Amino acid sequence: MSMIKSLLKNLHPSSIEHLRLTMDLLKRKIQSSNERAIKFEDWMSEALYNPFFGYYTSKKDIIFNGRNSTDNNINGDFVTAPELTPIFAKTLSRQIAQVLNYLESENIIEFGAGSGILAKNILQEFKKLGLNINYKIIEISNSLISTQKQTLSSFNDKVEWLSSLPIGFNGCVIANELLDAMPVSIFHYSKNKSIMEKWVGLNQREEFVWIDKPADNRLLEATKKILPLIECDYTSEINFQSDAWIRTIPKWLTRGVVFIIDYGFPRHEYYHLQRATGTLMCHLNHIAYSDPFIAPGIQDITSHVDFSSIAEASIENGLYVLGYTSLANFLINSGIIHIVQDLDKSKIKNHVEELGAVQKLLSEIDMGELFKVIAIGKDFQNELVGFSENDRSHKLLP
Ligand SMILES: C[S@@+](CC[C@H](N)C(=O)[O-])C[C@H]1O[C@@H](n2cnc3c(N)ncnc32)[C@H](O)[C@@H]1O
Repeated sequence: MSMIKSLLKNLHPSSIEHLRLTMDLLKRKIQSSNERAIKFEDWMSEALYNPFFGYYTSKKDIIFNGRNSTDNNINGDFVTAPELTPIFAKTLSRQIAQVLNYLESENIIEFGAGSGILAKNILQEFKKLGLNINYKIIEISNSLISTQKQTLSSFNDKVEWLSSLPIGFNGCVIANELLDAMPVSIFHYSKNKSIMEKWVGLNQREEFVWIDKPADNRLLEATKKILPLIECDYTSEINFQSDAWIRTIPKWLTRGVVFIIDYGFPRHEYYHLQRATGTLMCHLNHIAYSDPFIAPGIQDITSHVDFSSIAEASIENGLYVLGYTSLANFLINSGIIHIVQDLDKSKIKNHVEELGAVQKLLSEIDMGELFKVIAIGKDFQNELVGFSENDRSHKLLP
């Protein structure tokens, strides 16, 4: 807590002002609601995606370049795999190439492209291979679209930003850390065995407070699969929006593979007794904490992905799981070791840094195991190189 206090003290004045304005907006939403409280899912949605104050929609400088702190050494709030090293994109490109080759397609679509660095590195990789690519991006944040346009300025003719879902898409779909950034509902299973939903209200000092309200039918239905796994006094999240996103896929994908890369677990590990307070996490200047009320508007808010739910939503909608494994297994299967062997070793400092990043991607106590990759297919019969060994699909469904 003391770290967070000192972090808040050292915020850049523009971040303090943004935080104040976002807090005011959220308070007004609560005060003007009939129940004087709003569901956490709606609160999180405003905090991340309000067009004027949302963390992703309004602050392009902060997320990836760091304007939150008066300390110029601090860069951004969190690091994603493509931001960490281009070796991630290089390795993923090998798997993408296999898919596109099989489909005889040149199409890639990325959802939630962040700074655009993954797109840039993938396009560079295919350029080196002499292969043409049509790259499409669907991005909810207009300010991040501007950042992506700058990052991708040398690939102007290859990239198209779509304002709605494509029609009849045939190709490869990428979603890296998309689902963890979607607003979640929070439930609380209490001692008297009732299921409550977490709403957000205000106390007399106008501070955000949690309010428990009886769960609605949608939440009651969704928790049926979770209750056998948990005990009393259990709080966790359900991501209805990620399931809804999966349900749209068969409407626009005629043929192809969707790669979802994110941190998460199968249901029996997600709703584990050791995770009785859930997986909700906030990130600000590389400090992680679980209380979302600290810095709405200037902090990231995320939760882990329940990959069983993703698999079920896929199967229920006529798609199928082609593979599921840890990020480390996926990258090793896709050839990261060969890429590392071929790295330029002449500049020692660069090389050591590159190896450090690869270590993070592959480490069992870091991204290598925390992150998973699931591939969802439609009309795609080929086996995928990324899951050739240690496929864990069998762990997803009971
Ligand atoms: C955690 S960031 C990850 C960025 C990037 N993929 C990376 O790995 O560096 C989440 C991204 O998803 C975008 N996003 C969130 N919900 C979205 C949605 N429903 N459709 C498209 N983009 C979305 C955010 O604006 C942001 O660009």
